Amino acid sequence: MHILHIISSPRANSYSARLGRQIVEKLLAAHPGSSVHERDLSHHPLPHLEEVFVQGIFTPAEARTPSQQAAVQHSDEVIDEVLAADVLVIGSPMYNFSISSSLKAWLDHVVRAGVTFKYGPNGPQGLLTGKKVYLALASGGVYSGGSPMAAYDFMAPYLKPVLGFIGLTDVEVVRVEGTSIPDLEPMALSKAVDSVAV
Ligand SMILES: Cc1cc2nc3c(=O)[nH]c(=O)nc-3n(C[C@H](O)[C@H](O)[C@H](O)COP(=O)(O)O)c2cc1C
Repeated sequence: MHILHIISSPRANSYSARLGRQIVEKLLAAHPGSSVHERDLSHHPLPHLEEVFVQGIFTPAEARTPSQQAAVQHSDEVIDEVLAADVLVIGSPMYNFSISSSLKAWLDHVVRAGVTFKYGPNGPQGLLTGKKVYLALASGGVYSGGSPMAAYDFMAPYLKPVLGFIGLTDVEVVRVEGTSIPDLEPMALSKAVDSVAV
């Protein structure tokens, strides 16, 4: 089994990165001999989408200019990493009720017409099928379990549909919540790790 671990927090002591690593450890224990590739989007950010990229993806590969080819190369690389994976572990800190811009840039490079989804007779069809995804989500506050803050959560309610759109429909959400709340913080990570069954 090949595991792709995406990290999108810039913090050295990140809860989402630590939760992601613990999920990876559980997967390795359950599937000995598996391999892991880690992509750190915060320390090696992908560029925001520019016009040259948009032109490039709508130009046949053999007709792309060198600058279009260079821009599209980032997208090809991250899509190849997803294609190679059987399991994705995606870490995301909550920033202003949503995902980090580094993770959004990754999605902008991965969600690509004709490559990771296409339009067929029955509408859009995701092409990255047959993979399992664990979302390792960290937030300072609490958004699950009937919290009145649930309406402010644009992290899971965004990630699940956009991943489903490209065929990643088997998504398990794991939350380390209350990292800014002194009463909850000490147990937040272990509680999240314990909730994961691989
Ligand atoms: C710029 C910034 C924005 C944040 N926005 C939110 C927020 O909207 N809601 C929330 O519950 N926590 C928010 N937090 C707290 C983080 O979600 C929390 O520290 C979380 O543990 C970050 O993930 P990490 O530990 O993986 O870096 C924010 C933190 C920062 C630095």
